[in-house]
Amino acid sequence: MILAHKDDIPLNSTKGFELSSGKQIFVVHKDSGFYAYENRCPHLGIELNWLPDQFLDIENNLIQCATHGALFLPETGECIAGPCVGQPLTLTPITLTENGDITLTEEI
Ligand code: FES
Repeated sequence: MILAHKDDIPLNSTKGFELSSGKQIFVVHKDSGFYAYENRCPHLGIELNWLPDQFLDIENNLIQCATHGALFLPETGECIAGPCVGQPLTLTPITLTENGDITLTEEI
């Protein structure tokens, strides 16, 4: 399933998606590539964002939970600050195709 074209998610930005299964995910674009995670904070199991497509901290550096401010590494999803330190976001495998489409590697 195609989520977006890579040009739709500029460097250091994020975009949220609702899958046909009802699952909420988001994609983050960093220098090192594109990563996707379930939109679910490991602290309370709730959505990470308050505003659409905004999952990063004020510096557009780390993924941040809007509720209690937990910070996560974009490349691994590991929580490095806040109430769920050490607990990761759930990775969603994606593939970047030759023509620049970001696709789900497997249906979830
Ligand atoms: S719900 Fe995300 S840090 Fe508390």
